[in-house]
Formats: sequence, C-alpha cells, structure tokens
Amino acid sequence: MTFQMILTEIHERVGLIRLNRPKELNALNPQLLGELLEAADAFDANDAIGCVVIAGNDKAFAAGADIKQMAKASPVAMLELVYIDLWDRLAEIRKPIIAAVSGYCLGGGNELAMACDMIIASDTAKFGQPEIGIGVIPGAGGTQRLARAVGKALAMEMVLNNRWLSAEEALQHGLVNHVYTVDSYLDEALKLAAGIANQAPVAARIGKEAINMAFETSLASGIAHERKLFYLLFATQDQKEGMAAFKDKREPKWQGK
Ligand code: CAA
Repeated sequence: MTFQMILTEIHERVGLIRLNRPKELNALNPQLLGELLEAADAFDANDAIGCVVIAGNDKAFAAGADIKQMAKASPVAMLELVYIDLWDRLAEIRKPIIAAVSGYCLGGGNELAMACDMIIASDTAKFGQPEIGIGVIPGAGGTQRLARAVGKALAMEMVLNNRWLSAEEALQHGLVNHVYTVDSYLDEALKLAAGIANQAPVAARIGKEAINMAFETSLASGIAHERKLFYLLFATQDQKEGMAAFKDKREPKWQGK
C-alpha cells in the first residue's frame, strides 16, 4: 500500500497510522480519510495486529474537516462525495483503536478522536468543536459523542460557544484517558496499545463491542447482549487456555481463536 497523506508503521503487534498533511494542520479531506480507512481496514484484517494507534503530529492531531474543500459545496454534493460518512466507518473497525492527540484536535479532528476507543493526550492538546465559528455545527458525530463523553452542559458550551478544553480539562471531564508530556505521549499510547494487543484478541474485540453497545441500547438489553457475548467466548480456545493457565499458575499463550 502506498499512501500520500498518511504514514503507517508496525510496532510488534500495534499498527500505527499517522495523519500526514502537516502544512494544513492535518485538515481531513476525502483522500486523507480514505487512506486512513484503508490502512485501518488492513490492520483490522491482519491477525498479527492486536491494536491500532492513530496520531497526527505534535502540533496538530487534526484541525477539522477541510473547510476549503467544503466551502462551496451543496448538500447534494456533500452527500455524493461520501465524505462525512467516512468518520462513521472508523467506528466499524473491530479492533481497539487509540487516538494519540497533541496540539489542535478540533471539529472533525475531535470527532475522529472520539470515534476511537480511547484518547491519550499530550499536555499541549486542545479539544474543541469550533464549527459554530464557520456557521455550521459538528457533522461527523460531534454533538452525540461529545455529549456522551463530557455531559450535556459542557458539550453545549463547546458546540454553541466554541469553548475549547485543555488536555487537563479534557482529562477532568472524561474525554481522554491520560495526559503525558509532548515528548512521551506517543510512546505512552504505543505502550497502552501494546498492552491491549497482548491480551486475548477475540475477547478484546468482543469487549469493545459490548462497551459500545452501552451507548446504543437500554441497560437491560445491553446486559442481555453482554451475557450472550460472555457465553460466546466459551467457544474460543483462548478461554480454555486462559482458565487452564490460571489453574496451572503460568502465563497464557493466546491463539486469537
Ligand atoms: N480546513 C482547511 N484548512 C485548514 C483547516 C481546516 N479545517 N485548519 C487549518 N487549515 C490550514 C489553514 O488554512 C492554513 O493554510 P494556509 O497556510 O494555506 O493559509 C494552515 O492550515 C495553517 O493554519 P493557520 O495559519 O490558520 O494556523 P494558526 O496556527 O494560525 O491557527 C487554527 C490554527 C486555530 C487551528 C486555525 O487554523 C483554525 O481555526 N482552523 C479551523 C478550525 C475549524 O474550524 N475546524 C472545524 C472544521 S469544520 C468540521 O470539522 C465539520 C465537521 O464536523 C466534520
């Protein structure tokens, strides 16, 4: 695979995707998102990869959807471009995904980070949904995921009055998992990803599905769904191996089956 707007690397069982449009602060255009999804799909299908990290650079994770590209678009053009839908497709990747965020994480950039499963931030990260400043609202899940992540009151302030959050505020309000220095956030994200990638692979995928279900359904249906997924895992070799290893007081050897 050759890409023009992203870089990919493999670190043992972790697939790293770096957004690479630095001059435009990683503004997300259809080509960049298309390449990002192609790489994420390939890591998802690769048994040697257990977790994916998406990062930008130290100055910008991403400053949002590409405003210049959208400026003159009609609703029909937006629909036909299959552009904004690309954010939804990231949420369909089955393996765990961590966003490693530094600098600007705005608009569609914040929506991309929130479509991941966890966010690791550098202490320079700035989170915002500034679309009101260009006469629109978030269109790639921002109002929904932000309200679920930080609560209604703060989401309203961010979307209606362009309030940005510092990394520390984002941590305080549950938007991010951890904050590290700008020199170490990516290594820490890779370390977290390596930890996840070395867990039982099927259980990690199913655990992601079960937690995401919590945002889609009632408590009773979510618990019923979780119970079936829990029973399903008893069909895996990894469940037999994990429980046998516990009894034998040894480390399990996961097969991903
Ligand atoms: N789209 C297109 N280009 C962008 C961009 C974006 N979202 N954000 C930055 N750029 C470009 C700038 O136009 C500039 O390019 P030129 O050098 O060719 O002029 C380059 O990146 C550097 O940007 P600045 O000179 O503006 O850098 P700065 O440090 O002065 O400011 C910033 C940084 C505050 C992030 C500012 O660039 C900014 O406000 N960007 C737009 C943020 C925004 O409104 N995002 C929401 C987009 S809409 C959206 O995302 C909708 C959705 O829900 C899907």
